[in-house]
Amino acid sequence: MHKFILSVLLACCWWPAAVVAQETDAAKAARMQWFDDAKLGIFIHWGIYAVDGISESWSFYNNYLPYDEYMKQCSGFTASHYDPKAWVDLIRESGAQYSVITSKHHDGVALWDTKSGPLSVARHTPAGRDLLTPFCKEVRKAGLHLGLYYSLVDWSHDDYPNFTRTSTRYAIADEPARWQRFVDFNKAQLTELCKAYKPDLFWFDGDWEQSAENWHAAEIIDLLRSYNKNVIVNSRITGYGDYATPEQGIPVVRPTDRYWELCQTINDSWGFQHTDTNFKSPHQLLCTFCDCLSMGGNLLLDFGPREGGTIPDEEVAVLKEFGRWTKKHKEAVYGTRAGIPAEHFQGYTALNQAGDVIYLYIPYRPNGTVEIKGLINNVHRVWVVGSGQILNHKVFNKAYWSEVPGNLYIEVPDAVLDPQITVIGVLLDGSARLYQGAGQVISVN
Ligand code: GLC
Repeated sequence: MHKFILSVLLACCWWPAAVVAQETDAAKAARMQWFDDAKLGIFIHWGIYAVDGISESWSFYNNYLPYDEYMKQCSGFTASHYDPKAWVDLIRESGAQYSVITSKHHDGVALWDTKSGPLSVARHTPAGRDLLTPFCKEVRKAGLHLGLYYSLVDWSHDDYPNFTRTSTRYAIADEPARWQRFVDFNKAQLTELCKAYKPDLFWFDGDWEQSAENWHAAEIIDLLRSYNKNVIVNSRITGYGDYATPEQGIPVVRPTDRYWELCQTINDSWGFQHTDTNFKSPHQLLCTFCDCLSMGGNLLLDFGPREGGTIPDEEVAVLKEFGRWTKKHKEAVYGTRAGIPAEHFQGYTALNQAGDVIYLYIPYRPNGTVEIKGLINNVHRVWVVGSGQILNHKVFNKAYWSEVPGNLYIEVPDAVLDPQITVIGVLLDGSARLYQGAGQVISVN
């Protein structure tokens, strides 16, 4: 008996301080549910880099300009037209279910009035106030989920080893106590964010500069979960996250991660840059969105407000067009799952959760019918999502002796086309069943 108690005590003592609790797939699915169903999020990069319109943090890290020049932007950051309600109205109008905002980028300038660190817009810019709190309040009021981007690296912080691409302050191995101060600083800022905003999601960045052990990644996850046991964390925390974050490049094959989110800019920049007029069209971005739906992922679409807080017209126009499209096609957006393989339909598709409705996203004007191959199910109904108009459809090439299903042809008249992407719903007699063979030769007739 004594021995038993002793071994329990020993086990407790030897247990490492931070252990990220193991979770079953079902528990994770429950925690990830809102994210999995949300499909569209809006990313916001707002910081002093919008003053001169240069790349966020990277511009000094990459030595495009000296650090002091970069930091001079502080004096031009006014937030003079900041209207967080207008931002959130636009985000909501776009159809997004969540928003992720840069609470602090790699340059270390916090968007809130941090008490744990030296740099913030509240204390170092004419804006002179906490800009994060009013945004978070509006997000909550609108019933959206709140995500906070937080850079693990802080190239301004005196206790952070890396400064620019070509200069470092020190090596962690040489000054472990100094590094520990930085780890404590990160934890203190994260604690402030947890307490003040109780975010649903943390979007880390910059993890590539240190190991999980050095970041104390497991302890960070434990810390966040101690404030919100359901918190969702992106992948950029050295292997401890919940979902993958491919960036800019749209995956070509379906990612193997169960949960993922493509983060994508509207032009080529995360933050506001005067010279970047390389805007993608609403049509191109909606295609990217359907591409994500097709592969079972989310799209986190970014805009970069000016230093004063206004949003460039082109970005507003994109969000509004997303809004028109997502509103009309909501049943084919929210809660959908990855579609059928491309061999069966030449385009983007998704399934409803029951798996008995296939949504076809058609970003072009079909010259005639559109076709689904290899569908074993009988089709009960085909309609235009958004108007409910029934479409004619017919199966050809179904030989009674063959197990190969015929081709389903659907008529899509010009009158039903959406100006961006038409969506067609195909209701089946049960969960989608697909024939994936290479055809069959007749053996009896
Ligand atoms: C990158 C960059 C950064 C940007 C982020 C958004 O990793 O470091 O500037 O904020 O991706 O995904």
